[in-house]
Amino acid sequence: MKYQNLGKTEIKVSRISFGAWGLGGGNVWSDMSISVKETGELLDYASDLGINYIDTAPVYGIGTSEMILGKALKGRRDRFIVQTKCSLNWRNEGGEFEYVRDGYTVMKDHHASAIRKDVEDSLLRMDLDCIDSMVVHRMSSVVSPEETMNELQELIKEGKIRAVLLSNSASEDLKEYAKYGIVAGVQEKFSLLSQNQRRYFETCREYGSMFQAYGILEEGGLTGRKIVETQWPEGDVRSTRVWSKEPVRSAVLALFDELEPLCGKYGCSMANLVQAWTLKQYEDLNLLTGFRRRETMADTVKVLDLEISDDDLALITAAADKTQL
Ligand SMILES: NC(=O)c1ccc[n+]([C@@H]2O[C@H](COP(=O)([O-])OP(=O)(O)OC[C@H]3O[C@@H](n4cnc5c(N)ncnc54)[C@H](OP(=O)(O)O)[C@@H]3O)[C@@H](O)[C@H]2O)c1
Repeated sequence: MKYQNLGKTEIKVSRISFGAWGLGGGNVWSDMSISVKETGELLDYASDLGINYIDTAPVYGIGTSEMILGKALKGRRDRFIVQTKCSLNWRNEGGEFEYVRDGYTVMKDHHASAIRKDVEDSLLRMDLDCIDSMVVHRMSSVVSPEETMNELQELIKEGKIRAVLLSNSASEDLKEYAKYGIVAGVQEKFSLLSQNQRRYFETCREYGSMFQAYGILEEGGLTGRKIVETQWPEGDVRSTRVWSKEPVRSAVLALFDELEPLCGKYGCSMANLVQAWTLKQYEDLNLLTGFRRRETMADTVKVLDLEISDDDLALITAAADKTQL
């Protein structure tokens, strides 16, 4: 495993991080439901592979991912850097409407009192004394970054959290939040098919913030034909992705036609090819990947030994340029 600093903090995190959205199950990740025991075994396997960085959020399964993780972390806590999120809640206490999922209405609230309650609720759900890294899940056009960040700094002083990241944000947000404290990193959607956040790299360099990419495999849509050709039930995250519908579905299958010879050449999976390309896009990129199975975790870590030539990286870029989302 390779490790990097979580931005300007002293926290050392594995270059590959474990996305725990899928542990929330429900209608959203409908094909598997994972027990606490299985999660504990997954965590052991992750740490055997050197993965020490876990990402979850209150809204993943409406508390389920955090609760399962919290229970599975018993006796394992010291091996992991635990990251969760704030600013989205289903407490029915106001804020801005975000979405309805699994029968719950999720609201966005960045006021100091809501942020504090988010952190305290997550500590309770996971039964932890401290959360290593707290991500502001979405940005607000209503509450000032000053109010939100000042409260997060207070929570750091109280020992309840250790670092702050932003998500679904832009350079301007990072610049604004950074006026009130260290922004250790940003967690942003970035994939071979969705490269808009490339424009963020320069600001991350300037501010010493880690760029943690999510959705690198497009929730499985970039792992190969099987997932793309599956008819996902309504409500499942994969049924909402553009690659599950025409015309993008056919375009992604055509992309695989171009990439499969490279998988043959390097003896790697499609997921690895895409992950290797992603790691080459930014020197400090953290590869946040969703896992529910040992097999996918074991395959993913192989990417750290995979060297794709510059010519082939350019080929991958050119092939994907035809299918930008
Ligand atoms: N900040 C935000 O707004 C935001 C939004 C979305 C996600 N996230 C975070 O980012 C994490 C990752 O994103 P994601 O889970 O949406 O999507 P993803 O990482 O693009 O895809 C996850 C899917 O890819 C599969 N997979 C992983 N490695 C593989 C491999 N080597 N070969 C074949 N399949 C492989 C997983 O399989 P198995 O499940 O079968 O193991 C899972 O189904 C989430 O878990 C969450 O923590 C954050």
